[in-house]
Amino acid sequence: MLNSWVLPLLLFTTVTPLLYVQKNEIRSVDTLDGLWTFVREPHNGGDVGIVNGWKGKDLAKFENSTVMPVPSSYNDLGTSSELRDHIGWVWYQKKEFIPLRDSNMRHVLRFGSVNYFAVVVSEPTD
Ligand SMILES: *[C@@H]1O[C@H](CO)[C@@H](O)[C@H](O)[C@H]1NC(C)=O
Repeated sequence: MLNSWVLPLLLFTTVTPLLYVQKNEIRSVDTLDGLWTFVREPHNGGDVGIVNGWKGKDLAKFENSTVMPVPSSYNDLGTSSELRDHIGWVWYQKKEFIPLRDSNMRHVLRFGSVNYFAVVVSEPTD
């Protein structure tokens, strides 16, 4: 099963604090750190990504997509002042395989930090 993680920075309705992840005889831990597909909406872009349903799209196909290391702060990377001073939504997307043996397990995503607001979408894809 292939899951796409889409991380537009938006609104979180509830936040449940979790203990730090530990690997033990019952739990396994995988990291989603690495290079994620990244698309920036225009400065104060009026929710163009939400309006146009980007959560269901392959962001890597966008002309202006790039990759962004996670964890990192996109504002601190690159040389563009538009990126450094960006105000508005940014979208991160990652495709991850979930092994068949883990498909019936409960999956918990833990984010070490997120800037202000976030929406996480997990969608099975082909
Ligand atoms: C990136 O591409 C998308 C899709 O074409 C577009 O809607 C968006 O405005 C672009 N982002 C910027 C910062 O121009």
